[in-house]
Amino acid sequence: MKVTVIGTGYVGLTTAVSMAYLEHDVTCVDVDETKIKQLDLGNMPFYEPGLKELIQLRQDYLRFVTPSREAVEHADVIFFAVGTPANSDGSPNLTYLFSAVAETLDFIRTKNSPTVLVNKSTVPVGTADQIDRKIKEVGLEDRVKVTSNPEFLRQGRAIQDTLYPDRIVVGGDEYSSKLLYELYAGIAEQSFQPPMQALRPVGYRGPEYIVVDRRSAELAKYAANAYLAMKISFINEIANVCDRVGADVTHVASIIGKDSRIGSSFLQAGIGYGGSCFPKDTRALRFIADTNGYDFKLLSAVIEVNQSQKLIMLEKLQDRLGELSGKQISVLGLSFKPGTDDLREAPSFPIIHALLSQGAKVRVHDPVAMDKAMSLLPESVHFAVSATEALFNADAALIVTEWPEYTSLDPKDVVSLMRRPLIIDGRNALQAANIHGLEYEGIGIGS
Ligand code: UGA
Repeated sequence: MKVTVIGTGYVGLTTAVSMAYLEHDVTCVDVDETKIKQLDLGNMPFYEPGLKELIQLRQDYLRFVTPSREAVEHADVIFFAVGTPANSDGSPNLTYLFSAVAETLDFIRTKNSPTVLVNKSTVPVGTADQIDRKIKEVGLEDRVKVTSNPEFLRQGRAIQDTLYPDRIVVGGDEYSSKLLYELYAGIAEQSFQPPMQALRPVGYRGPEYIVVDRRSAELAKYAANAYLAMKISFINEIANVCDRVGADVTHVASIIGKDSRIGSSFLQAGIGYGGSCFPKDTRALRFIADTNGYDFKLLSAVIEVNQSQKLIMLEKLQDRLGELSGKQISVLGLSFKPGTDDLREAPSFPIIHALLSQGAKVRVHDPVAMDKAMSLLPESVHFAVSATEALFNADAALIVTEWPEYTSLDPKDVVSLMRRPLIIDGRNALQAANIHGLEYEGIGIGS
C-alpha cells in the first residue's frame, strides 16, 4: 500500500518505519527541511533504540521529503502525526494539525482515487469531526475519509510497542476501517523476521482490532494516559504514607498488583511521571472536561500529586544534610525516563533548579541526554563526563532517572568516591546488593 506520514516526531517516524517494515511504500513528510536532510543522511532527530537500524534496513521502502503535491497524490493512506503541544491553559494547540490538513486537502483536489486520512496525533474529542467538516466544505467527501487511530507507544520501546501492540483502535467508517485492517495485516499475522522477532514480549497474544466511532477512539487515548498517570500518582501517595508509617511501598505494590483487577504495571513509586505525554494529556483531558461543563476532580488530584512528588527528594535531602548551601550534590539522570534523551517535563529540571536556589553546587550526568540539556540548564551546573566524575567528592547523590549505569553502581566505588556516601533513590531502582555500605533512602521504602 502507498502510505504518507506527515510529521517526523516519535509517533510519525515510528509509524513510518513500522509501515516500511511491513513492506508498504512510505513517504515521510516534514516542514523542517534540515530534519528531512538529516534523516536522508541517516541521522535521527532523537534517540530511540533500534529506530536508526530499522530505517537502514528498510531504506528501499522509505523516502523523506518536505511537503509536496506528489507526496499527497501518491498515497492511499495519509497519517497525521504532528505535534499538539499544550497552550498555557492546558488545551492542545492544533495549529500544526489543521495547517497540515488544509495543505493536504488542497493537494488532494487533483487526485481521483480515494484517500483515507488517519489521525495519530492526540487530539480533543471532535477533532476528526472537524476535519470531516473541512473535507465536506471543499466537496471531497466522496473520495476522502477521516479516521482516528490513536497511538499507544512508549518512548524507548517505540518499535516494539508498534509491532506488538495490545490493541489497534480505529475510529471511523467501514471503508476506512477495512483499509486500515489491510494496512496493519502484517502486525496481526505477526510473521516477523529477525531482528524484529526478538522484540516479541513474553506471553504476547497478538493485537485486538477494535473499530469504534471517532469520538470514542479520540477519548480512549486520553483516558488510557490519564488512567496510567492515576496509577502512578496513587502509588506515589501510598509511598508517602509508607514513609510515615514504616511500611514498604514495593511490597504493597506487589501485593495489590497480584489482584488481576488492579494489575502489577505502573505501580512503580518514585518522583512522578514526566515526558511529552502524561503531563500534557492529563492537563488536556481536564481542559476538555472543563470546557464541556464537567469538573474532573480525580484528574486534578492526579496532576497536583505529580507536581509535588517531583520535589520529594529535596525534603529527604534536607532532612539528612540540613542546609544545602555550599553542598556538592550529584544528580544522576536527566531524561524523563531511561532509554530516551527526551527532557520534556523531566523531574530532573525542577530538582536541579530547587537545588541551585538553595545554594547547592550541582554536578549532573546522563548517558544520552547531556547534549540536549546543556543549552537548557544554567551555566553554574557542572556536566560530568561520567557517573564517577559526578559522584567525586559529593555530599549526596540523587538517582533521578533509573539508567542501568546508576542502578548497577558498586557500593565500594561509591563509598570511595563520595565525601558522604548518601544516595537518595528517586526511582527505588538500586538493588539490595548495591546498597550495602551506603547511606540510602528511596521513596516509601524506609532507609
Ligand atoms: C506514555 C504511555 O505509556 C504510552 O502508552 C503512550 O502512547 C504515550 O505516553 C503517548 O501518549 O504517546 P511514555 O511517555 O513514553 O508513554 O512513557 P512511560 O513509559 O509510560 O512513562 C511515563 C512516565 O511515568 C515516566 O516518567 C516514568 O518514569 C513514569 N512511571 C511509569 C512511573 O513513575 N511509575 C511507573 O510505574 C511507570
